[in-house]
Amino acid sequence: MGQDRLHALMARGTAFLGCEVAVLGGAMSWVSERNLVAAISNAGGFGVIACGAMTPALLDAEIAGTKALTDKPFGVNLITMHPDLSELIDVCARHGVGHVVLAGGLPPAGSLERIKGSGAKLICFAPALALAKKLIRSGVDALVIEGMEAGGHIGPVSTSVLAQEMLPEIADKLPVFVAGGIGRGEAIAGYLEMGAAGVQLGTRFVCATESIAHANFKRAFIRASARDAVASVQIDPRLPVIPVRALKNAGGELFTAKQREVAQSLDEGRVAMAEAQLQIEHYWAGALRRAVVDGDVEHGSVMAGQSVGMVSREEPVAAILAELMTQAAAALEKRAA
Ligand SMILES: Cc1cc2nc3c(=O)[nH]c(=O)nc-3n(C[C@H](O)[C@H](O)[C@H](O)COP(=O)(O)O)c2cc1C
Repeated sequence: MGQDRLHALMARGTAFLGCEVAVLGGAMSWVSERNLVAAISNAGGFGVIACGAMTPALLDAEIAGTKALTDKPFGVNLITMHPDLSELIDVCARHGVGHVVLAGGLPPAGSLERIKGSGAKLICFAPALALAKKLIRSGVDALVIEGMEAGGHIGPVSTSVLAQEMLPEIADKLPVFVAGGIGRGEAIAGYLEMGAAGVQLGTRFVCATESIAHANFKRAFIRASARDAVASVQIDPRLPVIPVRALKNAGGELFTAKQREVAQSLDEGRVAMAEAQLQIEHYWAGALRRAVVDGDVEHGSVMAGQSVGMVSREEPVAAILAELMTQAAAALEKRAA
């Protein structure tokens, strides 16, 4: 009975994504490449390739590589500030990618039309209700609402508050996926009952057997508890940086030094604000690579959400999804009893 209710509550999400369970594997730079993405889609979820700083040629190869590992649908995450955004959209279109997730703010001029014109569905992040309404008016097909419990770049508001504020207002207008801090199926059941079409998880998938993250990166996740996943601090009020949630380590101090360096360049007029912010984003991409790929979890950035405390072992994606679904179904059954 719990299973039936779960599938009924996920129906809108699964129909929209074209998969069996309405769980998106949130794109994670360096982690969400062909192996993890294909594994999530093969297990019935919806994998999303993190394009991050990839060139169009690299994205082309990654999509082809993913297609070689799965015949199930998957998506591509593009970042709005990427200088080659139009070319990246065209690469997705040539491959017939069905869903593009656009991160990093409102879609730049022309990108929404370009994505939808290719026949792909467009999923955007809505950090506040007013922005969600604006995005809906502009014609996006689905939204992700992500709270500050999440790993990686974060907004200021928690998932539970965003869900309460936004779902009653927008869940009947388009599919909404809730992200940030989800570690167990009971929480998934709760958000579905509040009107979400599905959920997006990142942290829980990092230690999947199929994830290519370095063994040190996975070990750091397995050891960490919720309170170890902290948000970066902005040290200079003139240089607004988007906070990043990652495990506490010596890399935190490196970021403080980087901010000082960039703020000084800004003061001396050597860089403009947009360039300063881009330098910060390049710093994060490099620091994350250092930890995920090279395994330097002391000086690199170990981006992780607060649900990291619920990651206790390396296990296949199929086992992670099955456990989440069993917990969700049991919770729904209990509530109905
Ligand atoms: C290591 C790591 C890297 C991430 N990189 C990206 C990224 O490149 N683009 C993006 O849109 N989100 C990124 N995220 C956010 C995830 O896609 C997802 O929304 C988030 O992890 C969900 O919250 P959770 O970590 O609490 O499950 C990243 C998260 C982590 C943990």
